[in-house]
Amino acid sequence: MVMADANNISTNGNGNGNGNHYAVHVRSVTKTFGTGDATIHALREVQFDAREGELLMIVGPSGCGKTTLLSVIAGTLGFDSGEVDVFGSPLHSLSKGDITDFRAKNIGFIFQQFHLIPTLTNAENVSVPLLINGMKRAIAEKRAHELLEVVGLKGRGNHLPSQLSGGQQQRVAIARAMVHDPKLIICDEPTSALDKENGAKIMELLSSIARAPGRCVIVVTHDPRIYHFADRMTEMEDGRVARVHAAPENL
Ligand SMILES: Nc1ncnc2c1ncn2[C@@H]1O[C@H](COP(=O)(O)OP(=O)(O)OP(=O)(O)O)[C@@H](O)[C@H]1O
Ligand SMILES: [Mg+2]
Repeated sequence: MVMADANNISTNGNGNGNGNHYAVHVRSVTKTFGTGDATIHALREVQFDAREGELLMIVGPSGCGKTTLLSVIAGTLGFDSGEVDVFGSPLHSLSKGDITDFRAKNIGFIFQQFHLIPTLTNAENVSVPLLINGMKRAIAEKRAHELLEVVGLKGRGNHLPSQLSGGQQQRVAIARAMVHDPKLIICDEPTSALDKENGAKIMELLSSIARAPGRCVIVVTHDPRIYHFADRMTEMEDGRVARVHAAPENL
């Protein structure tokens, strides 16, 4: 196992220098919930980066701040202090409207709890990011049906999420996160409801997306069966990045 100092990983050649190779660069980000004695320090001066062309995993115990960090990177959660750049866009200095536009075009998010819209069919759920970006409904739904086939759900596009198993719903959420071809896909436990075979298929798909030019995939997971898909692994503990593993296959 190779470990790098979490604050010093830009020195191994791919971090900065000429041009910006960071997909995500988080500097000293702090996020608290609540006030006074009830204050919860979800993120404590977090230093984190993810690079173009990599699939980066984040691991750590329940409550250590993984989902909070993903939400900050996705621009869905504000933070108290620090800086967050995503593909060169400084989220800490953009307006809420600009962050929403940026997210719609550039980020796909697979939520821990899927967040499918129960009254829409699976294909309609998948086409939402395309409709937000102005695509015509018929074209968007055709694309959605194609992607549902890619994730192993051929013929289920006209069903409702409630007619699917948990693992199948998770795959609808995965299709929705990638349908608009975002630069950054952020996944909160994307294989938690999947068996080994389907989990591996999804990870192969995410790996191939991560390696396309100018892309990046960040995966939070508790699932050791998929660790070998990571290019690097960031370990969080108690609101901090504790370690970065450069060779997660040895974990
Ligand atoms: N909206 C909120 N209000 C108050 N506290 C919160 C809120 N969201 C998260 N927290 C707290 O912040 C800390 C980090 O939570 P977070 O959801 O980021 O953990 P996690 O690492 O994703 O855990 P898990 O592996 O269980 O999903 C926890 O102590 C949690 O209780
Ligand atoms: Mg979480």
